[in-house]
Amino acid sequence: MRIAVIGAGNVGATLGTAWSAAGHQVTYGVRKPDPANTAERTVGEAAVGAEVVVLATPWPAVDDAVAACGELTGKVLVDCTNPLLPGLAGLELGTTTSGVEKVARLAPGAKAVKAFNTVGFNVMANPVFDGQPVSMLYCGDDPAAKATVRQLISDCGFEPVDAGPLKQARLLEPFALLWISMAMQYGYSRDIAFRFVRR
Ligand SMILES: NC(=O)c1ccc[n+]([C@@H]2O[C@H](COP(=O)([O-])OP(=O)(O)OC[C@H]3O[C@@H](n4cnc5c(N)ncnc54)[C@H](OP(=O)(O)O)[C@@H]3O)[C@@H](O)[C@H]2O)c1
Repeated sequence: MRIAVIGAGNVGATLGTAWSAAGHQVTYGVRKPDPANTAERTVGEAAVGAEVVVLATPWPAVDDAVAACGELTGKVLVDCTNPLLPGLAGLELGTTTSGVEKVARLAPGAKAVKAFNTVGFNVMANPVFDGQPVSMLYCGDDPAAKATVRQLISDCGFEPVDAGPLKQARLLEPFALLWISMAMQYGYSRDIAFRFVRR
């Protein structure tokens, strides 16, 4: 699959590395591409050639980053961002709408899916705990786009769990804040994750 990862920071670089290792063709859309790095392009150049565009910028950069992508109609748009307030004080949006619903409005022709927002990038680098994969919840409204993202989640080593339609991000984004606060404020450290079980 041709994947454009927008933002090559902690999350973008970690996911891009995992997908490259799984055989996907990954380019990074960055603001200042390094000419010596053949994987880096401008945001627009990376997005135009991709089937899947992965948004991995800070929340305040989302408007600019989506605009810089150009035409996204028909593409799968995976939103990894969390609409965090400064200082982990909470979420800018939540429960009655969500960050990804705003992202979807910024790119109305794209097939938006929320994923990769509920655990830290260190867990994305190695999602196996006690020999078993941990869960990655995702949500979206387009079944084909969700199937694509489900595969990409598996390709990173997670167990994918379909949480339902895109509006479920109203719960997944606060759920991310649970991980963040437990990891960063309440003493559990970043090596924590959640596993979905049922019978
Ligand atoms: N860190 C985590 O563990 C984690 C886990 C799940 C979700 N998230 C979410 O994922 C997102 C990224 O987090 P992160 O930790 O990877 O952040 P990060 O390490 O700060 O990386 C963000 C990247 O976005 C780039 N960027 C900023 N503005 C941009 C723009 N307008 N266009 C293109 N690229 C732009 C930055 O590049 P330059 O500034 O160099 O241009 C930087 O490389 C955030 O929304 C965060 O809430 C983070």
